[in-house]
Amino acid sequence: MATNRTFTMIKPDAVESGHIGAILNDICAAGFKIVALKYTKLSAEKAGEFYAVHKERPFYGELVEFMSRGPIVAAILEKENAVEAFRTLIGATNPANAAEGTIRKKYAKSIGENAVHGSDSDENAAIEGAFHFAGTEIFG
Ligand code: CMP
Repeated sequence: MATNRTFTMIKPDAVESGHIGAILNDICAAGFKIVALKYTKLSAEKAGEFYAVHKERPFYGELVEFMSRGPIVAAILEKENAVEAFRTLIGATNPANAAEGTIRKKYAKSIGENAVHGSDSDENAAIEGAFHFAGTEIFG
């Protein structure tokens, strides 16, 4: 995957609160092109696999339970400098520290239930995109 792509999920809390449309609108309004999109649900096993890097963290069990409790929207997004640009758009992991106007400031409830995921590096964007999408599901 090229460095102008990132991976995101609209998490179960934001889906439950009816924010799919508003968040996708914010993403598109910020100039990201959606090149892959899926409405799906992670099993606990898959959520555990996706967040395996956090396995030793005290919040891992809670994170896996949360991410598998309801449907999510997964997407691959394209924009120049996508990883950094998207992390700016979503704001800090903890919505209490997120800048005004960011997606987490507007829609997130807590550090755990923080509305959206955004890849933290080009390498992870490629890994996470491939975790959710086959090559035939990506339209660049
Ligand atoms: P995300 O950016 O998807 O990557 C890891 C996730 O772990 C993070 O968003 C939060 O949902 C969750 N997380 C991070 N820190 C904490 C914490 N202190 N307590 C609970 N969940 C957390």
